[in-house]
Amino acid sequence: MTTGTGFSGEVVEYYARYRRGYPDAVVQRIVDAFALTQDDLALDLGCGTGLLTYALAGRVGTMIGMDPEPDMLAAAAAGAATHPPAAVAWVLGSDRDLPTVGRALRPLGALTVAVAIHWMDRATLFRVAGPLLRRGGGVAVVTNGAPLWSYDADWSRELAAFLRDRTGRPGATCQTDVDGRRLTRDALEDAGYDVTETTVDYTATLSVDAVVGGVLSAMTPPPARERRGFVAELERRLQPYAPLTEEVHVTLQLGLPRRPGATMSA
Ligand SMILES: C[S@@+](CC[C@H](N)C(=O)[O-])C[C@H]1O[C@@H](n2cnc3c(N)ncnc32)[C@H](O)[C@@H]1O
Repeated sequence: MTTGTGFSGEVVEYYARYRRGYPDAVVQRIVDAFALTQDDLALDLGCGTGLLTYALAGRVGTMIGMDPEPDMLAAAAAGAATHPPAAVAWVLGSDRDLPTVGRALRPLGALTVAVAIHWMDRATLFRVAGPLLRRGGGVAVVTNGAPLWSYDADWSRELAAFLRDRTGRPGATCQTDVDGRRLTRDALEDAGYDVTETTVDYTATLSVDAVVGGVLSAMTPPPARERRGFVAELERRLQPYAPLTEEVHVTLQLGLPRRPGATMSA
């Protein structure tokens, strides 16, 4: 099973090695929004390698990471070796499987979707999620900053130019931008949620190696025989800008069902 979204094979290795996790403040906002406790069950849909799943795991009783890509899920499960022990279960499935999986679960304190909503049918997902939530529980849609090639910084513009030169296309926004967030907000509101939007901002310093690895985690890597040249050229173009500074804005869209009838009691 694979969704054709590209999250398999070597991409997963780059993802596991180079993608940055979520600051504690992001987790705290989710915990506070839905009053999560050790009595709660939460589900991270599109969990990938488990960056947000593990970050939330210590804050609830049980965490489920769910993703349709077996390689991502395998990398997530392997991450148990480097994270504190926690009750985490991994489920192979996509947004379309949520109604079936949900029938087997007790009510959720939170459904989280981090950097994955653009692959999903938002309207259906948010409608289906409402009845799966405990009273006071909600949906958190999270970005992890913007794609590396879309920052207002010289190194990021250089990266965008490099990708255009190589692929003939501008890099995708992955709907982390204002328009993408509007789609999520509208869909949440239409599905009967009150929505709060908040950001966690911080500055990160990236090595050239981290940017190259991040790029390779977000595309079909060039074939092995071309990879060395691709990497060398990208390193050469980024090096003059080092150290690379990223102003990260993690956005959270927190949806609480507003119709009493849309929730189950725990
Ligand atoms: C960019 S990764 C984000 C992973 C993780 N949430 C994070 O914050 O690092 C997007 C993930 O969404 C998953 N995905 C793609 N289509 C999906 C769908 N229809 N339902 C659920 N997850 C999906 C991919 O397999 C991939 O693991």
